[in-house]
Amino acid sequence: MTLNLGVIGTGAIGRDHIRRCSTTLSGARVAAVSDIDPVQARAAIAPFESEALLFETGEALIASPSVDAVLVTSWGPTHAAFVHAAIAAGKPVFCEKPLATTAADCLSIVKAEAATGKRLVQVGFMRPYDSGYRALRQVLRDNTLGTVLMIHAAHRNPTVGANYTTDMAITDTLIHELDVLRWLIEDDYVSAQVIFPRRSRHARADLRDPQIVLLETAKGIRIDVEIFVNCRYGYDIQCEIVGEEGIARLPEPSAVTLRHQARLGTPILTDWKDRFIAAYDVELQDFIDGVRDGALKGPSAWDGYAAAVAADACVLAQRTGAVEPIVLDRAAAGV
Ligand SMILES: NC(=O)c1ccc[n+]([C@@H]2O[C@H](COP(=O)([O-])OP(=O)(O)OC[C@H]3O[C@@H](n4cnc5c(N)ncnc54)[C@H](O)[C@@H]3O)[C@@H](O)[C@H]2O)c1
Repeated sequence: MTLNLGVIGTGAIGRDHIRRCSTTLSGARVAAVSDIDPVQARAAIAPFESEALLFETGEALIASPSVDAVLVTSWGPTHAAFVHAAIAAGKPVFCEKPLATTAADCLSIVKAEAATGKRLVQVGFMRPYDSGYRALRQVLRDNTLGTVLMIHAAHRNPTVGANYTTDMAITDTLIHELDVLRWLIEDDYVSAQVIFPRRSRHARADLRDPQIVLLETAKGIRIDVEIFVNCRYGYDIQCEIVGEEGIARLPEPSAVTLRHQARLGTPILTDWKDRFIAAYDVELQDFIDGVRDGALKGPSAWDGYAAAVAADACVLAQRTGAVEPIVLDRAAAGV
């Protein structure tokens, strides 16, 4: 039976998910859309599903019997209310990151979902679906590196928009590392510190760029992540895991090697959308399959909460310069 999806928020990622559900993935169709801009919502769905329903509000879409499962792709501050409404309606919900804009709101979602006794929430962290990160995790699971000691990572963008602020380096950029590194090493963070090196002249005067985030995990692994959002040369994601028996690196995206004009090299991507494009397909197909099988497997509400708690500590550490603790409230969550 085809799964009827309702999409709330038809901006950039919402439209992209509508396209992939309608043209690339199997087992689902977009049966309903909603956006505060109804003209845009109608235009987003029109090329794919002429019979899709248009709802005035996300709440009405969630309540509709025409919708089996919900994709929340609206602005971050709206996510928590829509996810709560989906849980209350007993409908599976895929929520783009962030699950909620505060750790407290993430925790309330964890509790609401737990109270139903069912897994209903998947958070849109796509890097665990990237083939390179999956291969890296397999190396760790095979214990090829022995005990993991350190991780050196980097998240570099060529440039950022005028509205990008220093704390967004954590909440919008580092948030993906916070999720995927925790998933890779199957360990939780216990502290964070942020160091600001010399500022790049390419960064706006009010933006601290680059930044180095230092994390420590419960097992004592030390992680450094360079965030450099005006690096100029490309969109570049690096991850090197250092173990007692060896080192493993995230593979580079595949590209043709060129011997050209006395140079040997491969191009570097410049647009973040291209870097994980395949992972978005695998991620959403996994949600569709998980709903149909009655067993969601992707990033959970707890993962969304864990990322939010770590991000809060990093933002605080930006201001204090101190080592800030990262504490997950397992007792309150009942896990
Ligand atoms: N996983 C990823 O890599 C990734 C990539 C891009 C965006 N995102 C996340 O997806 C979300 C959306 O990002 P975007 O780039 O598509 O933003 P966007 O601004 O392009 O689109 C957001 C849409 O939500 C709509 N909206 C806002 N409030 C609404 C409401 N109450 N009801 C219905 N619609 C509402 C807006 O009108 C807009 O069309 C953000 O949380 C963002 O962080 C995740």
